[in-house]
Amino acid sequence: MHLTIDGRVVEAVPGQTVLEAARAAGIYIPALCYHPKTGKAGRCRACVVEVEGLRGLKESCALLVKDGMVVRTDTPKVLQTRRMIVELLLSEGHHNCISCQSNADCELQEMAYHLGIERPSYLVESLPTPKDMSSGGIVRDSDKCIQCGRCVVACQHGVVNQVLSFAYRGSHAQVVCDDDQPMGESTCVQCGECVQVCPVGALVLKQPLENKIRPHETTATKVTCPYCGVGCQIDLHTKDNRYAFAMAHEGQWDRQPNKGMLCVKGRFGLDYIDSPDRLRSPLVRKKGKLEKASWDEALDVVAKGLKAIQEKHGPDAVGFFTSAKVSNEENYALQRFGRALIGTNNIDHCARL
Ligand code: SF4
Ligand code: SF4
Ligand code: SF4
Ligand code: FES
Repeated sequence: MHLTIDGRVVEAVPGQTVLEAARAAGIYIPALCYHPKTGKAGRCRACVVEVEGLRGLKESCALLVKDGMVVRTDTPKVLQTRRMIVELLLSEGHHNCISCQSNADCELQEMAYHLGIERPSYLVESLPTPKDMSSGGIVRDSDKCIQCGRCVVACQHGVVNQVLSFAYRGSHAQVVCDDDQPMGESTCVQCGECVQVCPVGALVLKQPLENKIRPHETTATKVTCPYCGVGCQIDLHTKDNRYAFAMAHEGQWDRQPNKGMLCVKGRFGLDYIDSPDRLRSPLVRKKGKLEKASWDEALDVVAKGLKAIQEKHGPDAVGFFTSAKVSNEENYALQRFGRALIGTNNIDHCARL
C-alpha cells in the first residue's frame, strides 16, 4: 500500500504505523516515548501529525497506515504543538546540555534543535535533586527524566526484571526502583537495558561518565560478546582506540540472538580489554618461574610435553577442555587435534559444566 507524507509517496505494509512508515522512508518524525523495543506509549505526543480527513492532531506512533492516507508532519499546527511539548519538558527538571553526559546523543535535544528552540520560554523554579550514584554501573538523574516510560516497559516486560515503575502522583510522579530504593540497594541486576532505551541523560552508564567520555566522541564497532555461547551482538564504543563502554548492537532490535539486550557481563565486563594485567604474550615456566616467551617457543614446549605424556602413559592420559568463549571452528579444530593427532576421546567443553 501507499501513503503520502509531506507530498512524498511512501510505501508501507499493513500493520505498520505512520511513524514506522515515515522512518523507513527516511522522514524525520520525533518520538520520545515510543521506541521500537518498548512500543507505543502515547505519553509524550512528540510524534503528532496532521492527517487529511481526520480531526485534530494524531499520534503517528499509534496510528496505523491506510492505503491512500495523506499525512503532513510539518504544518504550523504540528510544529507549534511539538514546540510547546519540548519547551515544557525543557522547563521542568534541570536540563543543562553543556555538562550533560548525553549531550549530542539525546533525543530531546535533537528535537529542540530541529524545532529551533534555543532556550525554553518558561521558567519553573525547583531545587536540583541529587543524582542516584548508588549503583555499580548506572547513574540516575531524575532531574533529566521526561517520564517517557521507556525504561519502565523495558525493565518490566523486556528483560522482565520488574525493578522500575512509576510511583507517586501528579507533579510528584517519578520512576522508582522497587519501593523507591536507591538503585544500588534495589533488586536491579544491572543489565543496563533501561540505559539503552532512555532517550535523554536521565539514565547513563557510569564507566564513560567517570572517564569523561561522551557517546558522540566514540566509535562503535560491532563485536560478538566473548562471555558465553549466546553470542550477543555488541556495539563496542572506543575513543582513541581505547575501551569506552558497551551497548547492545542497535541494528538488532528484533533479531536473535540478543534482540538488542545485554546482560551485566556483556554490558559492563569488557573493560578488561585495556587492563594492564592482561596477558599479551605467552608465559613459559623456566626454573619454576613464569617468563615471557614467543608463540613458537611456547607451542614447542606444549608439543614436547604432550608427546612425552602420550609416549609414556598412552593417549588417554591427555584430555582437552575447550571453551564457549571461542568460535565453533576453533572448538572443532581442537577436538580434531585431540582425536586424530593425540588419539584420545577425552574431550569436553565448559558449556557442559
Ligand atoms: S538530557 Fe538532553 S536535553 Fe537534557 S541536559 Fe541532557 S542533553 Fe540536554
Ligand atoms: S539495569 Fe536492568 S534490572 Fe536494573 S533497572 Fe535497568 S532494566 Fe531494570
Ligand atoms: S529515566 Fe529515561 S527512559 Fe525512564 S522515564 Fe525517564 S526519561 Fe524515560
Ligand atoms: S512517541 Fe508517539 S506519543 Fe510519544
